[in-house]
Amino acid sequence: MNICILSTDQVKDDQRLLNAAQQKGHNAELYNIRDISMVLTSDKPIIYWRDQDITKRLDAIIPRLNVNFTDYGTNVLQQFICSQTYVSESPAALRLGRDKLKSLQYLLARGLPFPATGIAYTPQGFRQLAKTIGTPMIVKLIESTEGTGIFLAHNLKEMDNIVKTFGQLGASYVIQSFIAEAAGTDVRAFVIGGKVVAAMCRRSQDGDFRSNVALGGRSEPYQLTAIEEEIVLSATAAIGINVAGVDFVRADSGPMLLEVNVSPDFTGDQGIEKVTGVNIADAIIDHVVAQVCNFYEHHYTSATVLESPRGILCADG
Ligand SMILES: Nc1ncnc2c1ncn2[C@@H]1O[C@H](COP(=O)(O)OP(=O)(O)O)[C@@H](O)[C@H]1O
Ligand SMILES: [Mg+2]
Repeated sequence: MNICILSTDQVKDDQRLLNAAQQKGHNAELYNIRDISMVLTSDKPIIYWRDQDITKRLDAIIPRLNVNFTDYGTNVLQQFICSQTYVSESPAALRLGRDKLKSLQYLLARGLPFPATGIAYTPQGFRQLAKTIGTPMIVKLIESTEGTGIFLAHNLKEMDNIVKTFGQLGASYVIQSFIAEAAGTDVRAFVIGGKVVAAMCRRSQDGDFRSNVALGGRSEPYQLTAIEEEIVLSATAAIGINVAGVDFVRADSGPMLLEVNVSPDFTGDQGIEKVTGVNIADAIIDHVVAQVCNFYEHHYTSATVLESPRGILCADG
């Protein structure tokens, strides 16, 4: 099978996927999205990698797009879909997963638990919401990753300062109830094709309320409870994503979802492969190959998601 790992900057992880596919006997290639260009015509979509026409060369595309490439990357994926090539994630799911607020609206539509989250247009609007959210609170950039762009405001004055700074920078952000009892720990569940294949608990080591490994957090294997597993799988189905890293915190009242990462890392010293011993790269390739076979045998839509009819659609989603 001709497999393309459509890559941006997660070099180590993408290389693992490439090696796993090659070891399984596939003809796999890693293409950086920066080298992809395309021509849109109504009868013959064309896709180039550098100067080579790859429109009909590939059987499966596995997107691994980091945040800065969501727009360009999803347009490229759509072009592959137009040329009847199997794409392992739908462009809509990748876009949705990148928008923390809109993702929460999809979780809300299913009645899934997450910390109360507020958005307003003006600093005065945020002040008004603070009555519902309470302090201390979290102020979060909508497109934050790896714990950057997330602040803890202990009181309204601190919130005002962060809100006004983000406002001046033209950034989009939300405020969120701080789950104090979970401070410094969270759980990452790795989902592939509607199954939780591995999970780990992450703890910050220096008193930071953020447990991200990128900030020095340490991980250990974790066994999800039945309820946690149900919530995690329902969250990925709500977003329509096949491979995801779902983050949640354990509040006194039960699990609270934080986010669904649509291009999750799995390598590294504190990464989920090393910590749990589960071969994530193999599992992703096995899942994709099974899907590709179904796709070409039964001609179903590319990037078929686990559950396509999404209860209620929110905002402009
Ligand atoms: N509402 C919250 N209450 C308590 N801790 C939180 C909350 N939101 C985020 N955190 C902590 O901050 C970390 C980063 O937040 P998250 O929403 O996952 O963003 P990122 O995309 O940057 O990882 C989480 O892993 C968790 O440890
Ligand atoms: Mg996170």
